Amino acid sequence: MLDLKRQYRPLHQELLDAIGAVLQTQQFILGEPVAAFERAAAAQLGVAHALGCSSGTDALWLALAAAQLGPGTAVVTTPFSFFASVSSILRAGATPVLADIDPATFNLDPAAVEAILNGPQPTPIRAILPVHLYGQPADWTIFARLGQERGLKLIEDAAQAWGAEWQGVKAGNLGDIAAFSFYPTKNLSAAGDAGMVTTNSAELAERVKMLRQHGMRRRYYHDEIGWNTRMDGLQGAILTVKLKYIAAWNSARRTVARRYHALFHAAGLAESGPWPAHAVVLPHEVPGSHHVWHQYVVRTRRRDALREFLAIRGIGSEIYYPVPLHLQDALKSLGYNQGSFPESERAAREVLALPIFPELREDEQQTVVAAIAEFLS
Ligand SMILES: Cc1ncc(COP(=O)(O)O)c(C=O)c1O
Repeated sequence: MLDLKRQYRPLHQELLDAIGAVLQTQQFILGEPVAAFERAAAAQLGVAHALGCSSGTDALWLALAAAQLGPGTAVVTTPFSFFASVSSILRAGATPVLADIDPATFNLDPAAVEAILNGPQPTPIRAILPVHLYGQPADWTIFARLGQERGLKLIEDAAQAWGAEWQGVKAGNLGDIAAFSFYPTKNLSAAGDAGMVTTNSAELAERVKMLRQHGMRRRYYHDEIGWNTRMDGLQGAILTVKLKYIAAWNSARRTVARRYHALFHAAGLAESGPWPAHAVVLPHEVPGSHHVWHQYVVRTRRRDALREFLAIRGIGSEIYYPVPLHLQDALKSLGYNQGSFPESERAAREVLALPIFPELREDEQQTVVAAIAEFLS
């Protein structure tokens, strides 16, 4: 599914040198190694402020807390994402309100969000939190309009989307504030947990800095209840090295995605979506966007049987995500039921992520597609 060693081998010495430099300076938490990464990251995204923290989950919490989305406010997001997209809203003290996805992109459906904004709001909605799922940016033209018209904050969950773009603007630079994850399986990855918040607002950036260090602006003077969520110097140094290669890696992912498309079409397995009937619905890049293919996710009816068939042949695959968030035990208190979000529920039954990473070879992809062809025949 993912062979991280192929990325590591050519970087071995460069990474060891970067780690050695941190050990020489003994700057283990924030400090220059993280500041250097923050400067390089901000420059790459074209954003004014980039702030390192401990994880993508914490980055989401920091973004929400910095934007003062706490008790008495509600935030609209998707039920078809990783748990942290919703749990971070609860951790900030705000109320998550869920809206269904667009079945063609798996991203939050702007029409569903608009319907919620036009309905009753038991807790006033103050923000929208779209997720750029699988590396495909959410429809920012409509979300930007909704945000502006209704005076809502836009928070990006860009955990899976380093380098993705909507109409030439990079993810992380689209909303008021954004969260990235550098979890080891992400397209830009640390050697452990790490995350980042980006924003063009000096005021929000200042609040993130304060909140990531126990609410301190001055050492040992605590203005608010913050948290300890700082980035390690070692992660900053490793990420600074990898940042130089991410554009090439994303471009290689796009090549891998194009090859899957060609192979599936050549095998006669591709059917038009958004819902599968007898073959496989392929993912696509929304016109005007730049997809970084963090995942290559197909839809198929007999998904679980196919996954088992592939596993027996030594082919990895993954389900992101098997249970939509509104049906998670931990989120029962939100009051949703089976049937609340039919597109998310259907996607959870049909999606299958196939192996994709920059170093994946064409012959390996041929093996994957041939196995799927055999299963469907
Ligand atoms: C969409 C999404 N949001 C948030 C996160 C949380 O990031 P982390 O695992 O770094 O806490 C992840 C990654 O796991 C994710 O995929």
